[in-house]
Amino acid sequence: MRTRTAWPVIPTTFVCALALVFGCNQGESSTPSPQASAPTAPRAAVTPPSPPPAPTPAEATAPAATPKSAEAKLAPTQGNQAHGTVTFTPAEGGVRVVVHVEGLEMGAHGFHVHEKGDCSAPDASSAGGHFAPHGSPHGAPDAEPSHRHVGDLGNLEADASGKADADRIDSMIELEGDASVIGKAVIVHENKDDFTTQPSGNAGARIACGVIEGTAGTPSTAPGTAPAPKAETPSAPAPPPTH
Ligand code: CU
Ligand code: ZN
Repeated sequence: MRTRTAWPVIPTTFVCALALVFGCNQGESSTPSPQASAPTAPRAAVTPPSPPPAPTPAEATAPAATPKSAEAKLAPTQGNQAHGTVTFTPAEGGVRVVVHVEGLEMGAHGFHVHEKGDCSAPDASSAGGHFAPHGSPHGAPDAEPSHRHVGDLGNLEADASGKADADRIDSMIELEGDASVIGKAVIVHENKDDFTTQPSGNAGARIACGVIEGTAGTPSTAPGTAPAPKAETPSAPAPPPTH
């Protein structure tokens, strides 16, 4: 058991003040000074920065956003006033088609999806014929699929103020795949579609045209909106060429 009482208390600074002459360095004169020690490794080499996290598999495999809805803004062709909007949205049993057109003469006006999304010609002839990816004859919108074009949407009925509204679900219009109307054009005609004259119902001049463009839309969680599986036969061997 040591006791401090046997020694006089002397301030440390006083000791060192005396010892400075003899090289006292706070009692550690035997160790080299920091300046004399070997240089330490550069701080930057201690820990390399970690790379940014790689995308998780879920993100990498997420399907690209596809348009769930579509819209066409109808503009009048040369010498006409008809204009309006058409929207296409997925619905149970097909695609819901909502139409609002103004600037029409009272009565029925043929209304179709045409095969080319090109309204540049003054008479909209640039939009081509009816959109008919399945090759069926022209017909009424409620005809069997084998007796109408996909683009056959019937007639709009304009009232005395020149306005026409329509809202129906079409079973053949699609927003994905070979029968997708996105990138095609909507045409309103001067006259009534008679549903029988080939190939386009004798509906007369094209008075309004609009290109159908996909929109992001709101993701639908309703059942029955998933596209039906296609009866594709990718593995079937091609038949030999015949002459
Ligand atoms: Cu048409
Ligand atoms: Zn047609």
